[in-house]
Amino acid sequence: MEQIQIIDAKNHVGETVKIGAWVANKRSSGKISFLQLRDGTAYFQAVVVKNDVSEEVFHLAKELTQETSIIVTGEIREDTRSKFGYELGVQAIEVIGESHDYPITPKEHGVDFLMDHRHLWLRSSQQHAIMLIRNEVIRATYEFFNNNGFVKVDPPILTGSAPEGTSDLFETNYFDQKAYLSQSGQLYMEAAAMALGKVFSFGPTFRAEKSKTRRHLIEFWMIEPEMAFMHQEESLEVQEQYVAYLVQSVLDNCEYALDVLGRDKDTLKNYTKLPYPRISYDDAVELLKKNGFEDIEWGDDFGSPHETFIANSFDRPVFILNYPKAIKPFYMKPHPTREDVVICADLIAPEGYGEIIGGSERATDYDFLLEQIREAGLNEEEYSWYLDLRKYGTVPHAGFGLGLERTITFIAGIDHVREAIPFPRLLNRIYP
Ligand code: 4AD
Ligand code: MG
Repeated sequence: MEQIQIIDAKNHVGETVKIGAWVANKRSSGKISFLQLRDGTAYFQAVVVKNDVSEEVFHLAKELTQETSIIVTGEIREDTRSKFGYELGVQAIEVIGESHDYPITPKEHGVDFLMDHRHLWLRSSQQHAIMLIRNEVIRATYEFFNNNGFVKVDPPILTGSAPEGTSDLFETNYFDQKAYLSQSGQLYMEAAAMALGKVFSFGPTFRAEKSKTRRHLIEFWMIEPEMAFMHQEESLEVQEQYVAYLVQSVLDNCEYALDVLGRDKDTLKNYTKLPYPRISYDDAVELLKKNGFEDIEWGDDFGSPHETFIANSFDRPVFILNYPKAIKPFYMKPHPTREDVVICADLIAPEGYGEIIGGSERATDYDFLLEQIREAGLNEEEYSWYLDLRKYGTVPHAGFGLGLERTITFIAGIDHVREAIPFPRLLNRIYP
C-alpha cells in the first residue's frame, strides 16, 4: 500500500493509502469522529465511522489528542463540502508519538506566549500558509534573476565593512581582529558585478537596531542585485519587474495560502501593473506638508506615518527618488546638477507596509568616494579594496536591496515581520 502526502490525495481517489500526519483538531459524536489532519503539505479531514472500523480503532480515534502523530490507513474520497475537496475514510490508525497538554490550543493566545512557542506555533494553519508564501517568494526570486541573466554570488557574512553606517553593527572577535556581522553584502556585490556583469545575492543580514516596530528584525534576509553598466532608471525598471513578478508568482502558486490568510487577490493583482509611480523626495515632502504633517522638513528622513501617507496617495508601490545626501550612505552617486541630493530610490509598499527596497546608483569616481569614506568617519584602509573598483576600470553601476520579510508581510497581508521568518530575532528575543 502506498504512503502518500495529503496534497496528492486527488491522484488517489478510491484507493486505500497510508498517510503520516498530526492530529490538528478533532470532533466526535456518538458514532463518528472527525479528525482534522495535517502533514505539512495540507490539511484535510479523516472520518472514523463506528460501524466501519474495529471497536479498538474507534476507541483510539476518540482518545487522540491534539498534535499526536499517527500513521492512518484509509480510502481517499471526494468531499465536495470541504474546500480541499477530498477526505479520508479511516480503516486503521497507528500512533507514532503521543502528545499531551499541547500548549497552543484553538483558543486565543497572546503574542508573547505564541513567540515563546514559535517552534510549535509554526504548525498552525496561518503560520504554515505564511511559510508557503515565503518559499514561493524565494523560488520566484531565483527564477526571476536566473531568467534575466543574473549570476548568484554569495558575499561574506563576517566582514570588516559597514556599508549602512556604524551605529547598528554586531561586533564579534575574529581571532585577534574585530569583525562585524554583515549589514548588507552590497560592497562585495559591486566587486562581483565588475567580475560577472549582473549579479544577485540572497542571504542573512544583521542590524543591531534598537527598533521595536512591526517592520524591524535584527536578523533578516536580503536580496541584493548589482548591475554593471547600468544607471538608476534601468535599475528601477528591474526593481518594479522583480516585485511584480513576486506578486504574480504568489498569486499563481499560493492560492490556498492566500485564502487561509484572507488576502484579497484583486488587491494583489493591481500590484502587478507596471510601471510603479515615481515621486521625488522634494515632492513627497511638499505632499506631506500640504496634508498637515507639520513635523516634516526638507532634509528629514521619513518615519512610518509619512511613508504610509505617501503610499496611500497611490494605488500600488511607489518609488521615492533622490533623497538628501546627508541621510543616505556614503557610496551613493551624487546628483549631476544638485549637491544636496543623491541618485537613489526607496520603494514603498502600499497599505502601510513601508519600505521594501532601498537602492541607488553608485559613486564611480575614486577621489570623490575616498572623500566620502573619510567624511563618514570610516577607516579608509578597510575600504581600500572597495576603492580599487574605481581604480581599475570604473563603470556606471546600480543596485538595490529587497528585504525578504517586509516583502512577505506585504504580499501575505500580515501585520508584523516577526511572522514572516521561521525563527525571528527581535529586540530582546533570541528564544527559541
Ligand atoms: O535600505 P537598506 O538599509 O539598504 C541597504 O542595505 C543597501 N546596501 C541595499 C543595496 O543597495 N544593495 O536595506 C534594504 C532593505 C530595506 O528596504 C528593507 O526592506 C530591508 O532591507 N530592511 C529590513 N528588514 C527587516 N528588518 C530590518 N531591520 C531591516 N532593515 C532593512
Ligand atoms: Mg533603506
